[in-house]
Amino acid sequence: MKLFSGRSNKPLTKKIAASLRIKVSSLEIFVFPDREKRVRVLDKVVNEDTVIVQPTSTPGDKNYMELFFITDALRRSGAKSIIAVIPYLGYQRQDHLFRDGEAVSLEVIVETLQAVGISKIISFDMHSVKIPSLFKIPIIHLSALPLFAKKIKEMPKKETILIAPDKGGLRRVKILSELLGGMPFGSIEKNRNLATGKVSAKKMEGDVKGKRAIIVDDMISTGGTISTAANLLLEKGATEIYVFATHPVFPNGAKETLEKVKAKKIFVTDSILVPEDKKFESLEIISIADLIAEAIR
Ligand code: R5P
Repeated sequence: MKLFSGRSNKPLTKKIAASLRIKVSSLEIFVFPDREKRVRVLDKVVNEDTVIVQPTSTPGDKNYMELFFITDALRRSGAKSIIAVIPYLGYQRQDHLFRDGEAVSLEVIVETLQAVGISKIISFDMHSVKIPSLFKIPIIHLSALPLFAKKIKEMPKKETILIAPDKGGLRRVKILSELLGGMPFGSIEKNRNLATGKVSAKKMEGDVKGKRAIIVDDMISTGGTISTAANLLLEKGATEIYVFATHPVFPNGAKETLEKVKAKKIFVTDSILVPEDKKFESLEIISIADLIAEAIR
């Protein structure tokens, strides 16, 4: 088997390679002055099973194009199979029509991923459980929740409640609750203005008074959801806040929002590479490399 890396998260590829005890194979990605790319596979892949690691996080369009070209290069070079490890699948939140006249961007992405010749996809904590069924190729849908459960079990004992920051996150919180032997859970009623993206929340289900509240989400983008949720939980009497979210999307400005959140720790995974200048004090990154290596084996 040969393992290749796009450029969006090379440290994760290296960790997967170490876990699999193989080396990362060579690719040449030449960028022309107009930013177009020329991709070339340097290792022999004829009749080989191949794997490409490329989360399609910000800048999603660029990372997708790179993934498409690497896949095409592998296919033309005779690879027997091509597994795309896309821990964070960009455009997954645009999985249906929210308003008349919109594009369903994820559908375009799904069709293209299939058309370029990917045989199988490995991804993590997708925004909706329906997403895997949009693909005709096999999808291995992994979750970071078991890693989060392990961290929570290691915390000092204290009355704790798991919180979904919106109704859509309830399924995730229920699974985590089960992994933690039925830990109580609640949820927040979040409203997002579709035109401005601004998040607000006034109501919630569950009693957080005097308790540790753990917010669980699939991703943190601008930090608006987490910040709004944490403020409401503190208002309702929670004594300490922790956050667990799989994907650190972190566009510009997220760090400034997140460092103001009164959370003891914000745990994310390395499904997306967080550059040094976007890290902040309460951030802790948990690696998903071993879970990916296990799924590839
Ligand atoms: C939304 O439904 C997702 O589960 C996340 O809560 C959301 O995408 C986070 O975005 P932001 O950090 O920008 O509020």
